[in-house]
Amino acid sequence: MRNYANERNAPMSTEVDRGRRQLLTVATTLTGAVGVAFAAVPFLASWKPSARAKALGAPVEIDISKLEPGAMLKIEWRGKPVWVVRRTPAMIATLGTIDNRLADPASEQSKQPDYAKNAARAVKPEYFVVLGVCTHLGCAPMSRFDPGEAELGADWPGGFYCPCHGSKFDLAGRVFRGVPAPTNLEVPPYTFAGTGRIVIGVDQERVA
Ligand code: FES
Repeated sequence: MRNYANERNAPMSTEVDRGRRQLLTVATTLTGAVGVAFAAVPFLASWKPSARAKALGAPVEIDISKLEPGAMLKIEWRGKPVWVVRRTPAMIATLGTIDNRLADPASEQSKQPDYAKNAARAVKPEYFVVLGVCTHLGCAPMSRFDPGEAELGADWPGGFYCPCHGSKFDLAGRVFRGVPAPTNLEVPPYTFAGTGRIVIGVDQERVA
């Protein structure tokens, strides 16, 4: 027997399904767009180090292009002072001439990356990067770059002096014998980033 009810309902059902399918498509598209938007925010945020991330050790880039020969630049990294000294040829020439007065001239007992375990304790002898923290009890040593300073004696070669308990370090941060500081000043990880820039907190790539 002919079913008139089915014949009447058939087109209407198709219309409803098509409309429902379009609605679902729009809803899915919107949901997808919102999802991408929410996913994008944390992704972008991860590229911008927060103050907290910096305090925990995010690398710090320094412009050294205007640092004069013989001058020192100070910045902070991981809450500690980092110094960059641009050594003159005369300063570099003193390195290696007073090893017999130093406690650890080859930096065997001291902390520095492998690429800074050399006479200059540096990637490039011209630039000395070091933590400005005395290895005795953590005071801040002072720069005393001029040789023969009255306070430090005629044989003073230039370097760093910690007034807290009298520790002395040469122009590569190497500690003198007979002072309270046990080891050389620490050299942090760093790398050169093109001309005139240093990044503290990132290791120098090995060069063959
Ligand atoms: S903290 Fe520098 S000598 Fe004691």
